Amino acid sequence: MTKIAPSILASDFANLEAEIKEVEQAGADYIHVDVMDGKFVPNISIGVPVVEAIRPVTSLPLDVHLMIDEPENYVEAFANAGASIITVHQEATSHLHRTVQLIKSKGVKPGVVINPATPVELIKPILRDIDLVLIMTVNPGFGGQDFISEALEKVKQLDTWRKEESEYTYEIEVDGGVNQHTSLLCKQQGADVLVAGSAIFKRENRKEAIEDIRNS
Ligand code: DX5
Ligand code: ZN
Repeated sequence: MTKIAPSILASDFANLEAEIKEVEQAGADYIHVDVMDGKFVPNISIGVPVVEAIRPVTSLPLDVHLMIDEPENYVEAFANAGASIITVHQEATSHLHRTVQLIKSKGVKPGVVINPATPVELIKPILRDIDLVLIMTVNPGFGGQDFISEALEKVKQLDTWRKEESEYTYEIEVDGGVNQHTSLLCKQQGADVLVAGSAIFKRENRKEAIEDIRNS
């Protein structure tokens, strides 16, 4: 069954605990946490103290998406705050293997993410070391943007590679512009985890929203 990771970026921050509990009750699989530094992306969102604050309010894995330059400098802090998965941008770190090994050494599952314009071949050398690959279907920085369907070819390629190579155990996650219509395209190409912000939190009934995305 396709996993759903609601992005709390689109939630009501004044009621974050209630928002998280509601999507957990509604069947979410991960809580997706978007961290932005105002440098790697042109926006600032939330950071370590928020991850620490939400860790006790849910039993779901915290899927922390670092949209920050030199993420290696913050791996330890996010690990200590309770991140379950830490995903770093290939474009943001000079020594990808070193950063991934650092995440693993803190007992956290490592993920690697690429922007829509980044070729998937660039991360092939790291695939055997990671638990998750995140394919961006928008340019990161904001919720509510339009889905870039061209990026889905990378999902298909990743699915083909892992069918050919038993050493690859990564999940394929898609993030950006996912809704009840675009989710079908993601699943058809082999995605396992779908991140959705607006399509879940901007709807009154979160259970229906999650089911619409999962069952499209
Ligand atoms: C974009 C973030 C996404 C975003 C998704 O920079 O990484 O996780 O919150 O929001 P929607 O689903 O509204 O495109
Ligand atoms: Zn994200």
